[in-house]
Amino acid sequence: MTNQKTVTLTDDTTGKTWKFKVMEGTTGPDVIDVRTLYGQTGMFTYDPGFTSTGSCESKITYIDGDAGVLLHRGYNIAELAEKSDFMEVAYLLLNGELPSPAEKASFTSGIMRHTMVHEQLTRFYQGFRRDAHPMAVCCGVVGAMAAFYHDSLDINDPHQRMIAQYRLIAKMPTIAAMAYKYSIGQPFMYPQNNLSYAGNFLRMMFGVPAEDYVVNPVIERAMDRILMLHADHEQNASTSTVRLAGSSGANPFACIAAGIASLWGPSHGGANEAVLNMLREIGNKSNIPAFLSRVKDKADHTRLMGFGHRVYKNFDPRATVMRQTCHEVLASLGIKNDPLLDLAMEMEQIALKDEYFVSKKLYPNVDFYSGIIFRAIGMPESMFTVLFAVARTVGWISQWREMVEDPQSKIGRPRQLYSGQTERAFVPMHARG
Ligand code: CMC
Repeated sequence: MTNQKTVTLTDDTTGKTWKFKVMEGTTGPDVIDVRTLYGQTGMFTYDPGFTSTGSCESKITYIDGDAGVLLHRGYNIAELAEKSDFMEVAYLLLNGELPSPAEKASFTSGIMRHTMVHEQLTRFYQGFRRDAHPMAVCCGVVGAMAAFYHDSLDINDPHQRMIAQYRLIAKMPTIAAMAYKYSIGQPFMYPQNNLSYAGNFLRMMFGVPAEDYVVNPVIERAMDRILMLHADHEQNASTSTVRLAGSSGANPFACIAAGIASLWGPSHGGANEAVLNMLREIGNKSNIPAFLSRVKDKADHTRLMGFGHRVYKNFDPRATVMRQTCHEVLASLGIKNDPLLDLAMEMEQIALKDEYFVSKKLYPNVDFYSGIIFRAIGMPESMFTVLFAVARTVGWISQWREMVEDPQSKIGRPRQLYSGQTERAFVPMHARG
């Protein structure tokens, strides 16, 4: 039997010591179990941004940021991207193992049979302005699913949890494509279930009822890869949001809507849209040095969007696959003279050699390339983050289920270091200066 590892905390003023258990995972850094810290010491830990805090135990995704490794249920993302597809990765994330052929067929048809949304839900869209950002629409419509699917709200019923998971994964592309169609005033396209998940999404986005839509296999494959590469990413901001929302027992539709809200921010899922806005602002290659000077100037607060990552400090393994896919898509679509794409490639090369980025370990992340691919395939920029949300729904719901099914789960309730006023007497109006 191995001895329980511990660490000792010493109060340097009083000399008092306390011991804490160290927990070991199957791989990755050990964690100090500080659950008894407050009880023992009367102190909290202080960790804004949770850079040193493990918020849960999980068996779904493992990231080694220094080595640039991303594993889903033990399988390397690069291998999955090459040999697998989105439906298989979704099954893997949800169930822990790769599916057998029969399991995959049954899972895929189960998902594809849930793709339609309640007809009443389609009317919900009319309440939005046509120029609303599709993330705002998706956030609202996904939250509203709780008002439509009453038979999958009981989080304590495993069958209802399963149905909610199918509904969310299946209906997200429909909801997302409808948000786009609404914004351009075209009729909604009903899903076509004999297509692949990616192919069906492309048809709902770019097809019109008046014409047949033929899915381009290169774009379909690229879309499937993008979905796979974004499917899950451990305890990032949106996933932690989903878990925190769900920790109170909230229904899964509300939790995923919360995840969408968190993903929207430019430091997270909004980055790929921000990359293109940045490229447009730079305008042409001759402006790159001036832009990079602004990025390096701390007072300026400009960031090179699509570069850097909280966890990956060497390279983002998803970006490696995405870069290759990006070049494949550009070549197969014969895109040669797109000034924005040329600018992106030039920016990539310059930044990869620039001392500022090299020394701070800032490499292109997945969003740098996904933005470029989306532009190449004609995806409207406002839909970039929405697509990320479609893919990440799989990870969110897997993580949500793991949390709900974990007997250790508690309502999330962080504490704080209070630095405001201490208690003081109320000052009547006439006495205020
Ligand atoms: N451009 C310029 N400088 C940067 C950048 C950047 N993109 N990212 C980090 N830095 C600098 C930052 O100024 C800081 O410098 P210093 O040490 O001199 O103060 C240092 O690098 C560390 O930055 P940080 O903000 O402490 O790092 P973080 O881990 O909190 O930030 C990040 C991670 C992703 C928010 C950040 O790199 C960033 O804002 N990147 C641009 C937005 C982006 O592309 N986001 C997509 C992330 S990948 C998709 C996803 O998983 O959501």
